[in-house]
Amino acid sequence: MRVAVLNGVNLDVLHRRDPALYGGLSLQELEGRIEAWARELELQAECRQTNSEGEYVTWCHDALDWAGGVIANPGAWSHYSYAIRDALELFDAPLVEVHLSDITQRERWRRQSVLEDIAAERVIGKGPDGYRQALEFLAQGRA
Ligand code: DQA
Repeated sequence: MRVAVLNGVNLDVLHRRDPALYGGLSLQELEGRIEAWARELELQAECRQTNSEGEYVTWCHDALDWAGGVIANPGAWSHYSYAIRDALELFDAPLVEVHLSDITQRERWRRQSVLEDIAAERVIGKGPDGYRQALEFLAQGRA
């Protein structure tokens, strides 16, 4: 099963962000781990990252045709982008929302996510390992 892993704004500079919050890995290292975890679960992870909201939406549209599951960490867009919510809502495939940091314990504006009621599962505050948990969730539900 192919899984679309869609990371959003500012996740390309993960290695420059607060390691206490984000785990200290680079995006490349994170994607390498995600791909390896997926292989162990007999899944195929297709990782993408963009800082362009329109591109993120277009990638959602593209993945509608092939993704059996979706893992989304839209970064700050999670807190306000109804365009990204609308695009992710198009999937019949299960959606897992992932946040490296625990957004429920941070600034008030981060505590809300526009994805919270469309995600089949949410993995929050588990660092890079959260992506593995998201893959495990999708592997368990695979037909
Ligand atoms: C994030 C949390 C967001 O609030 C933040 O804007 C990010 C990353 C996370 O993975 O913890 O860019 O989605």
